[in-house]
Amino acid sequence: MKKDYILVLDFGSQYTQLIARRLREQGVYTEILPFNVSLADIKAKEPKGIILSGGPASVYATDAYFCDKGVFELNLPILGICYGMQLMAHHFKANVMPAGHKEYGKANIEIKKDSALFKNLPKKQTVWMSHSDKVENLPEGFEVLATSENSPFCVFADEKRKFFALQFHPEVQHSEFGKSILKNFAKYACNCESIWNMGSFAKSQILKIQEEVGKNKVLCAVSGGVDSSVVAALLANAIKEQLIVVFVDNGLLRAKEKEQVEFMFKNTLNIPLISIDASEIFLSRLKGVIDPEQKRKIIGNTFIEVFENEAKKHSDVKYLAQGTLYTDIIESSVIGASKTIKSHHNVGGLPEKMNLKLIEPLKEIFKDEVRALGLELGLNKDIVFRHPFPGPGLAIRIMGEVNKESLDLLRKADVILIEELKSTGWYDKTWQAFCVLLNVKSVGVMGDNRTYDNAICIRVVNASDGMTATFSHLPYEILENISRRIINEVQGINRVVYDISSKPPATIEWE
Ligand code: XMP
Repeated sequence: MKKDYILVLDFGSQYTQLIARRLREQGVYTEILPFNVSLADIKAKEPKGIILSGGPASVYATDAYFCDKGVFELNLPILGICYGMQLMAHHFKANVMPAGHKEYGKANIEIKKDSALFKNLPKKQTVWMSHSDKVENLPEGFEVLATSENSPFCVFADEKRKFFALQFHPEVQHSEFGKSILKNFAKYACNCESIWNMGSFAKSQILKIQEEVGKNKVLCAVSGGVDSSVVAALLANAIKEQLIVVFVDNGLLRAKEKEQVEFMFKNTLNIPLISIDASEIFLSRLKGVIDPEQKRKIIGNTFIEVFENEAKKHSDVKYLAQGTLYTDIIESSVIGASKTIKSHHNVGGLPEKMNLKLIEPLKEIFKDEVRALGLELGLNKDIVFRHPFPGPGLAIRIMGEVNKESLDLLRKADVILIEELKSTGWYDKTWQAFCVLLNVKSVGVMGDNRTYDNAICIRVVNASDGMTATFSHLPYEILENISRRIINEVQGINRVVYDISSKPPATIEWE
């Protein structure tokens, strides 16, 4: 499978991941690496073609991003997109200048010459541009394949060497035939077969895990979230008896969560699960703690302790499996402006402390691909499409001290919110939805009596990766229903508010 694949070098464009997505959607396996990866690493990976992504920089800037120049000597087809095009032009000694007219948004192109890229596609197409530099003259050996009103060199190529350059972004949906252009590059220029799908991915990962692990044992901590559940299911397929799956109930889970996870592993996946009830120890350590960071640290450290104690009970454990995703790798990559490390997202410190080797079978795929893989492996839809849930659980949704009473109150309200969103079809339209117990009391009137009870905040957001988010525009009727039900059904709550802040400047969770 690996032999037939395209490598994308990432120059920092916000659309780089889309290039990989578009190709994989069409069965062409694609991987992304930082632009400055060494030539030796590229060669070792044996791609059949290379795509140079877009990026925010200018090739003439002093701090411009360049890939190893040897990339152009590999005898491989190359497609340069936007910055990638300018880089190619610059490398072959053409002039790249600031454009008089910056071009953002839709543009019409006209194809002037048949080529592998435009095979079976119409001569006139709408594309999507986003650039402020342009190529002034053709590099030697290249010919124009298409023009636009503002770009006489909108698409150019050296078909002999199979070097192609696009001013526009084929990976975004507004480029009418962009997906086909990418596929044409893979199929006709690189001779890449479209054989990749979740089934073939699962098979290749299973083989890889079997080869790597041998007769050793693998420890896998699951949270009930989609990533760790998919990792466990994949491992179970690969090394059934050598897999030890551990679930820690930290007392900070949502209503019925523990039962759901246990049920899924036992009945749906048929994987033995070691379920550890550590709720008392977590809650006792959180007693009196109100500082959010301190809460997070206590929870993280306690988790490691519980996990380590469990690990000691098993011999021959050499590996720890984690559900690291492709986005986590990209986000912690070396690329300047896009560098963001989600350090709180994994169980930090475990591998070093425990001297276990890491297995990360999902590190090449995206969240939606993980979901597809989950379905392929037989996970139920409730798990596969459930909202993300933070490691520290409900503790960071209770302002102030966490105790059984506040957890119960929050759980009851949360169940109602999720029920209402599911029954109205809004659950699947949002990234995350939850309640926050504010630790604020206010005066109300119920029947003829005064109440002085808790206020709950509802947080429902849209996001694509959790890095940025906006509040979901839920219809007023739904909000009204949620509020009415929570106040009527959860004793101790007499007020509901809706969080309408975006991230940034707020965050999704409150702590
Ligand atoms: P914030 O609150 O930083 O959250 O906007 C972004 C996304 O990350 C989730 N989140 C966490 N996930 N461990 C996790 O596994 C954590 O400690 C953690 N903190 C936040 C959050 O739910 C949201 O989806």
